[in-house]
Amino acid sequence: MKKIIGAGVLLAAAAIFWIYGRGSTQTQKTSIKVGISIYRQDDTFISSMMGSLESYAKTLEQEKNIKISIDISDGNENQNTQNEQVERYISLGYDVLCINMVDRAEAATVIDKAEAADIPVIFFNREPVEEDMYRWEKLYYIGSDAKEQAVLQGQMILDALASRPEEIDINQDGILQYAMLEGEIRHQDSMVRTEWSVQSLKDGGASLEKVTGGIADWERAQASAMVEQWLTDYGDQIEIIICNNDDMALGAVDAMARAGLDFHNIVGIDGTPAGIQAVDEGKMLGTVVSNLDLHAQAIMDFAYAMAMGQEIDIEKWPLIDGKYIRIPQEIYVG
Ligand code: GAL
Repeated sequence: MKKIIGAGVLLAAAAIFWIYGRGSTQTQKTSIKVGISIYRQDDTFISSMMGSLESYAKTLEQEKNIKISIDISDGNENQNTQNEQVERYISLGYDVLCINMVDRAEAATVIDKAEAADIPVIFFNREPVEEDMYRWEKLYYIGSDAKEQAVLQGQMILDALASRPEEIDINQDGILQYAMLEGEIRHQDSMVRTEWSVQSLKDGGASLEKVTGGIADWERAQASAMVEQWLTDYGDQIEIIICNNDDMALGAVDAMARAGLDFHNIVGIDGTPAGIQAVDEGKMLGTVVSNLDLHAQAIMDFAYAMAMGQEIDIEKWPLIDGKYIRIPQEIYVG
């Protein structure tokens, strides 16, 4: 009997040692490696986010007293390149991956590679389809709610229309003649923003007429060339230019400046430093700020917790459907 009790005590001690021993090896990590891949280095919103992420990582390093190495690779708008970057991170034993998909429909390839190596993944800004997000438990998505952004963009225009009708409804016909600059065609944000900015204007009682529109892939130069052409084709018919992001809004600003026109009814989304500055200078009517620092903090907090094998702080970052973080938005007008 004594022997059995003795063996039981020994077993219990071994179990406690095993549990705590394992726990302590996890918390004893003194460094972590975070592998990031972005879809395109020269995207203003993403590169500003990476700047903020690098500085927040330094803060976190001091706070947690741990070495955090961050590697940011440029996917260069090529999904094969990005897949190779993911493979490289995996083969080098990175602790966590943060992926801004080139082609958001291809997330399963990244997920399967990461799962095979048991390396958690945080997707950001370019949202995988829902089915892929539920492929494995160690996956999260951090991004904006595109509908919320678009509704705020519409609200901003409605507010201006109510307070300064003569500036917005330039020809005073009671109808808002607008042009729409859209981001990449397959991006979740372009589709939703285009639809809901217009819908929220209609819901707010505005009468609308679309003069023209086009896809400028989020890019300032493309948008600028497009608006220049619109000025030739439609002259002064356009009363407002609704843009899916700030960089394209800045392209519209550039085109107006080149044409020597005093036209500022241009709205964006993102709240990039250049976008905010243009609003401050009165070159744009306003933007919707998608807080870059919060994006960066969420990505790094998740990366840290997952690399360390810790729970996510859901009080700080309330998860939607156990998978999604939506960064809050706000209107910014001059
Ligand atoms: C959008 C953002 C754009 C661009 C794009 C890239 O959310 O508004 O400016 O950065 O993401 O995926």
